[in-house]
Amino acid sequence: MASDARAERNARPKVTIVGVGMVGGTVAQLLAQRDYADIVMIDIVEGLPQGKALDLLQTGPVLGYDSILVGSNSYEDAVGSDLVVITSGVPRKPGMSRDDLLRTNQGIIRSVTEQIAAVAPDAVLIVVSNPLDAMCHVALETTGFPRERVIGQAGVLDSARFRTFIAAELNVSVEDVTAFVLGGHGDTMVPLSRYSTVAGIPITELMTPEKVKELETRTANGGAEVVSLLKSGSAFYAPAASTMAMVDSILLDKKRILPCSVLLTGEYGIDGLYVGVPVKLGRSGVEAIMQISLTEDEQAGLRSSADAVQALVDTMKSFETNA
Ligand code: 2OP
Repeated sequence: MASDARAERNARPKVTIVGVGMVGGTVAQLLAQRDYADIVMIDIVEGLPQGKALDLLQTGPVLGYDSILVGSNSYEDAVGSDLVVITSGVPRKPGMSRDDLLRTNQGIIRSVTEQIAAVAPDAVLIVVSNPLDAMCHVALETTGFPRERVIGQAGVLDSARFRTFIAAELNVSVEDVTAFVLGGHGDTMVPLSRYSTVAGIPITELMTPEKVKELETRTANGGAEVVSLLKSGSAFYAPAASTMAMVDSILLDKKRILPCSVLLTGEYGIDGLYVGVPVKLGRSGVEAIMQISLTEDEQAGLRSSADAVQALVDTMKSFETNA
């Protein structure tokens, strides 16, 4: 562990990133540049977190940040973290769905979250590993944390993809485009075009229904499109940036309304499942679940998304029974 007397300071929140591959490493880079937190990078690969942390520490003088970064293979270094980002697990390869990762990543996330809960019992967890909604179930169950502190990152990414395609289609700035994507982070996600706007104007008034449908479909396949281009590994810049938006909203207590995967307990007529819905994120994690009115079709889409998450949860249970 790098020795740095500045690490003794205690004014900055402590963020631990578990899994420092492409997503985890990029989250560390973005967060270091934000210059308000100190960062612990943990991975099982010896030297990898230490090397990335040192490299990012040495970037500080050039970019002008004082974030302390420590790389480690031990959860001891995560003691007392305020927030933990979990990116561990294997990514998919071309032709694989996120669900194909279920068995491998279930074991990894269970082990990671067990160790995190022991050293950082008050942390807010942001889960990024796939299949996202199912991995949130594993994290919640393993840690016993309240649902407010186990949150999945997917909706910010999915809506960023939708915003990108809308802006390109209408030749407008991405800054003026807002979009909402609900449901699970998978083929059944539900882009909410009625609530997706350009400077407040719903896109349904700016494009033909066929065009809207085309962009919705491209959004739902957004992750697979990048995987098929990269051929090894999956997207990481946009997933990391999306995670950063959530970290900012929590640690800076911004109270942004962002689509995140949360455990619903009756909201939207869904009980006991992680599904992406708009939530308010502040210092204590999920501070409110926003309920918006849905058409019958949208509600049915959300329901079938929830059913897909339920199927994964059932499959994970069957792994345990047959283990
Ligand atoms: C994606 O959609 C990796 O699930 C992530 O790109």
